[in-house]
Amino acid sequence: MSANKRYHIHTYGCQMNKRDTEAVGVLLARHGWDAAENEATSDLIIVNTCSVRGKAEDKALGKLGLLVSARRKQARSQIIGVMGCMVQRLGDTVFDKVPGLDFAVGTRRLAAIPGIVDCVVAGQGPVLDTGDNLDLAEDLCGHEEGSVTALVNVLFGCDRRCAYCIVPTVRGREWSRPADKVVEECQSLADGGIREICLLGQSVTQYGKTNAVFDESTQSSAGFTEPLPRLLESVDAIAGVQRIRFTSAHPSGCTPELVRAFKELPSVCEHLHLPVQSGADSLLKRMRRGYDTDVYRKAIAALRDVAPELGLTTDVIVGFPGETDDEFNATRAFMNEMQFDNAFIFKYSPRPGTPAAALQDDVPDEVKIQRNQLLLSDQESRGLALNERLVGTHVEVLVEGVSLRNEAKWSGRTRTNKIVVFEPVSGLKVGQLRHVRIDRAMPQTIYGYIDDESFSNNTSTRDHDSL
Ligand code: SAH
Ligand code: SF4
Ligand code: F3S
Repeated sequence: MSANKRYHIHTYGCQMNKRDTEAVGVLLARHGWDAAENEATSDLIIVNTCSVRGKAEDKALGKLGLLVSARRKQARSQIIGVMGCMVQRLGDTVFDKVPGLDFAVGTRRLAAIPGIVDCVVAGQGPVLDTGDNLDLAEDLCGHEEGSVTALVNVLFGCDRRCAYCIVPTVRGREWSRPADKVVEECQSLADGGIREICLLGQSVTQYGKTNAVFDESTQSSAGFTEPLPRLLESVDAIAGVQRIRFTSAHPSGCTPELVRAFKELPSVCEHLHLPVQSGADSLLKRMRRGYDTDVYRKAIAALRDVAPELGLTTDVIVGFPGETDDEFNATRAFMNEMQFDNAFIFKYSPRPGTPAAALQDDVPDEVKIQRNQLLLSDQESRGLALNERLVGTHVEVLVEGVSLRNEAKWSGRTRTNKIVVFEPVSGLKVGQLRHVRIDRAMPQTIYGYIDDESFSNNTSTRDHDSL
C-alpha cells in the first residue's frame, strides 16, 4: 500500500467542471497525492461546485455541511476544500455558509490548489483564492490514463451575457488557448490511446474571437479562415484521433465554414449540442440570446444538408420571467419542428446580479413544473421515435467499456452521440470501432449486437453522405 496521502474530488456541474476535476487530480498526483477509493478513506476532500441554478448551489452547500460535520463527529484530521463556480460567486462568504472549510478556490486559480493544500497542512488555513489569473492554464493540461475519450479546454470564460446566466460572472472574460497548445495536448492524448476528443468552451464557437490563437505564418490547407474550423482541421490531422466533438455551440457560430468543416473533416462527428433555450422570438429577445428561431432553423438546415443523420441536442429553459402560454407553446412546437434527439429542460432559477434577476420571477413554480414535464414527455416520445428508426440498421460504435447500468453488457457511442448497449464478444476491446446491428430502441439508448461482417463494404456513417 502506498504511503501517500489520499484525495477525493466530488463534482457538480457541467463538462467543464468534470474536466477541471480531472486536471486538478492530475496536479495533486504530481504533488504526491493518490486518488482515494471513497470519501471515508480520504485525507483531502474537495467539492467542485456549480452556480448555474440555485439548486446546484444548495446541493454543494449541503454536501460540504455534511462533510464538515462527519469530520467533527469522527474527530478526524481531514482537509475539506471547495473549488469552482460557487466559490467565485460567494467569495469569502462561503466560509460563513460552511464554517470549518479549510480552503476555497475560484475558477481561474485551480492550478494553485496543491500549494494551497500545503499552506493548510502547515496550519495557515483557511485560504481563499479567487484571483483572475489564467497564466497557470497550461499547468492544467494533464489527463487521467486509461480512457478512450477526452475533454480538452479550448476556450475559458464567456462574454455573451445572456440575461439569465451566471456563467460570465463566475467564469470570467473569454480567453482562447493558442491552437498549438490545444493540438499538442490532443497529440499526446492520441499517443496515449485516446480516440475521441471533445473540445470545450461555454460558447465554443467563439474560439479565437477575442484573442489571436494562430501564428500569422500558419495557413489552413483547406482554406479555412475562421479559428474554430481551423482548429478542427488541425485536430482532424492528428493520426489516431478518430472522432472530434465540440461543445457548446451558439447559433451565431454556425457559419458556412463550420458547416464545411462537418462535411470535409472525417473525424468531426455528426453531432451538435446547440442550446436553443426557447422557441419564441419574443422570449429569445428578452433572454438576450442574440438570434431568433429563423437563424437557428437555417443553421440546422445547412448542417443537415451536409450531414443528414446529424444528432441534434439542446437546452431549454421554462418559466423565464413573463413566459406566456403562447411563448411556451411556441417552444413546444419548435422542438417538434427541429426533431431534437435529446433535450435538457431546466426550470428558470433567478441568479443574483444577472439582468433577469431584476425582473419578477413571476411564473409560478407549479407552472414551471408542468411546462418542464410536458417538454420532457414530448422529448421522450420524440427520442423514442427517432431511435426506433435505427432498429435494423448498423451503427459505428466507439467501444467505451462495460455498461454502467448492466455489468453483463458493454456500451459505447455512435458518431451522432447515441448510447449503444450490446453483448460482449470475444476480442472486444475498449477503444475499438465496431459495427453494431440495432434491434431495440429506448428514448435515450439503443441496443443491439456486434455484427462487423455483414456490414457490407465496411461503410462508415460518414460515407452515407455521398451515397
Ligand atoms: N454555455 C452554454 C450553457 C451553459 S449553462 C451555452 O450557452 O450553450 C447550461 C444550461 O443551463 C444553459 O444552456 C441553460 O439552458 C441552463 N441555464 C443557465 N442559466 C440558467 C438559469 N438561471 N436558470 C435555469 N437554467 C439555466
Ligand atoms: Fe451563459 Fe449565454 Fe454564456 Fe452560455 S452563452 S455561458 S448561456 S452567457
Ligand atoms: Fe455550472 Fe460553472 Fe458549468 S456554473 S454549468 S459548473 S461553468
